[in-house]
Amino acid sequence: MSQTQSPSAPRLAGRTAIVTGGSRGIGAAVARRLAADGARVAVVYRSNSNEANAVVESIRKTGAEAIAVQADVADAASVNTMVTTVREAFGAIDILINNAGILEGQPVGEIDQTSFDAQFRTNAFSVILVTQAVLPHVPARGGHIVNVSSSLVYRPRAGLAVYAASKAAVDGLTHAFAVELGPRNITVNAVAPALTRTDMTAPIPDEVKDRMRESTPLGRLAEPEDIADAIAFLASDDARWVTGRTLKTDGGFI
Ligand SMILES: NC(=O)c1ccc[n+]([C@@H]2O[C@H](COP(=O)([O-])OP(=O)(O)OC[C@H]3O[C@@H](n4cnc5c(N)ncnc54)[C@H](OP(=O)(O)O)[C@@H]3O)[C@@H](O)[C@H]2O)c1
Repeated sequence: MSQTQSPSAPRLAGRTAIVTGGSRGIGAAVARRLAADGARVAVVYRSNSNEANAVVESIRKTGAEAIAVQADVADAASVNTMVTTVREAFGAIDILINNAGILEGQPVGEIDQTSFDAQFRTNAFSVILVTQAVLPHVPARGGHIVNVSSSLVYRPRAGLAVYAASKAAVDGLTHAFAVELGPRNITVNAVAPALTRTDMTAPIPDEVKDRMRESTPLGRLAEPEDIADAIAFLASDDARWVTGRTLKTDGGFI
């Protein structure tokens, strides 16, 4: 945590980071940003190896270190194998970004267990699985965990109750893990983005996006880099006195 570095060293020099869902969208922007800050980055993807490899290549072109690692964050065995791979490649793990997620819309009355299980396993249980797998590899000086929640927890939309509930669980885990991991000098925080332009939100109709833009004081929708920069702050020692908090990264969305 208080590793001594020369004033000119990038703030994450010498650190290793795991970014789940690093192949696309917000996770890809996070992977690039953490690498630009000096971290070695493991880009974890579920099935999209081409996109993950493209992110890794773009990072390596800058001179930084990155690897792509396949894993299903909802599966314990897969997560454990992924963490072992990262440990063998890069050593101790300083930073974990639990970003992988899925969104499925179902209006109340049509919610089924299959969709509930998929969203809770991928969005919430994954935070438990990956955090627990990483913990034995966090160095004694501590580390930083950042989870990705959603503005929908605080400002719900029709049809997305289960997704919002799974992200509320992410917030609950974030705040509770911070209490448990504080004594190890591990900070645990979350960001709660509003609508951000990624594959996940591409199907949302333009009129809905226009309404959200009008409800955003900064007058536009988020790009993945807007969220990545806030995550990078929480993943750095600059945020050493911030833990157990959810940062609303939403342009002031009201
Ligand atoms: N976009 C938004 O407006 C918004 C707003 C609030 C919160 N969020 C949250 O932000 C996070 C990133 O969203 P995004 O918009 O960037 O999503 P996205 O473009 O759909 O990308 C999702 C990423 O998660 C990975 N992933 C999904 N399920 C996985 C699994 N079971 N195991 C491992 N990786 C898995 C995907 O891997 P593959 O490429 O291999 O499929 C991909 O890298 C999510 O947690 C989402 O809920 C997004």
